[in-house]
Amino acid sequence: MNDSFSNLPRAAIVATGSYVPERVLTNADLEKMVETSDEWILTRTGIRERRIARPDEATSDMGTEAAKRALANAGVTAEELDMIIFATITPDMGFPNTACFVQANIGAKNAFCFDIEAACSGFVYGLDLCRQYIATGAARTILLLGAEKISCITDWKDRSLCVLFGDGAGAAVIRASDGKNGLLASVMRSDGRLHDLLKLPGGGSRNPATPETIAGGMHYMKMNGRDVFKHAVTCMTDVARKALDKAGLTVDDMKLIIPHQANLRIVNAIGERLGGGTDKYFVNLDRYGNTSAASIILALDEAVRVGRIQRGDRVLLIAFGGGFTWGATVLEW
Ligand SMILES: CC(C)(COP(=O)(O)OP(=O)(O)OC[C@H]1O[C@@H](n2cnc3c(N)ncnc32)[C@H](O)[C@@H]1OP(=O)(O)O)[C@@H](O)C(=O)NCCC(=O)NCCS
Repeated sequence: MNDSFSNLPRAAIVATGSYVPERVLTNADLEKMVETSDEWILTRTGIRERRIARPDEATSDMGTEAAKRALANAGVTAEELDMIIFATITPDMGFPNTACFVQANIGAKNAFCFDIEAACSGFVYGLDLCRQYIATGAARTILLLGAEKISCITDWKDRSLCVLFGDGAGAAVIRASDGKNGLLASVMRSDGRLHDLLKLPGGGSRNPATPETIAGGMHYMKMNGRDVFKHAVTCMTDVARKALDKAGLTVDDMKLIIPHQANLRIVNAIGERLGGGTDKYFVNLDRYGNTSAASIILALDEAVRVGRIQRGDRVLLIAFGGGFTWGATVLEW
């Protein structure tokens, strides 16, 4: 049950920032690596290119750059942060958590820090956490990050997966709203029965890393693409409707809809069901591919930078990822 917290302080995104690695991997580059074609990738996914982190560039390094930009845009110092939440499925290490690395890098000495893992839904799940910390007053200034180095859990010989993903990072500074803007409603969902359809099987306590797990490629992502596709469309459409209902708003009230940037066909299928016209659906997956927990914040940051979102606009975020996890948030910018 997600209550509306209607009488409590409302969390608002003060500013965002993002960072993508310099290296661009195009569909033409992938044609030289696996049996694929630009035409296949483009028609099945809408992806033209993606960014790939340097070997020495970890998830927290990308997150740190995004964090610095978000703090600068917000006019907030690192010392003002009392909490850092980092959403990722590609942490630097098993532990310490990735948020702690960012804390050290930016000097946020007054913050407490932890990671959350909800796969591609991580950023939207994180927003829901922020909503509650702000509502209760337990935190005043939060840095929420979504960042991934998916390239390090990608089997570059598996053409069905390696064409889909990319690396990147985004960050948001969140505080209590001083007006009526902020997070209006959110609905979060999971269905763990479907855990097998999208997973990273090796390296955890179920299958600790051994020469055998590595030889078997268990340290790479596995996915049943067709089933994931169907569930993504149904779940994202449903949760978007629920979040809009909870906010007492409709698709027509939304200036922009930012769905998880996995596949243009998924975005279009959601658009056909929810309505509102294709212009309302923000897409940058053509340039970045699926960046998992970074996807929605990378898109939100770009939408703000290019002027697609102005103060007072209402925006719908819709996430979906492994677990399965999914969720939607309605906010007023
Ligand atoms: C992965 C996905 C693009 C595949 O598209 P699809 O239309 O379902 O394609 P299929 O799986 O039916 O595969 C069709 C054929 O293309 C082949 N193929 C797969 N990847 C290919 C590639 N990169 N290049 C060329 N051919 C490829 C398959 O082997 C299959 O060949 P076959 O018919 O001879 O067996 C699609 O299922 C998808 O986007 N799923 C959701 C993935 C996702 O978003 N995951 C993250 C959610 S958080």
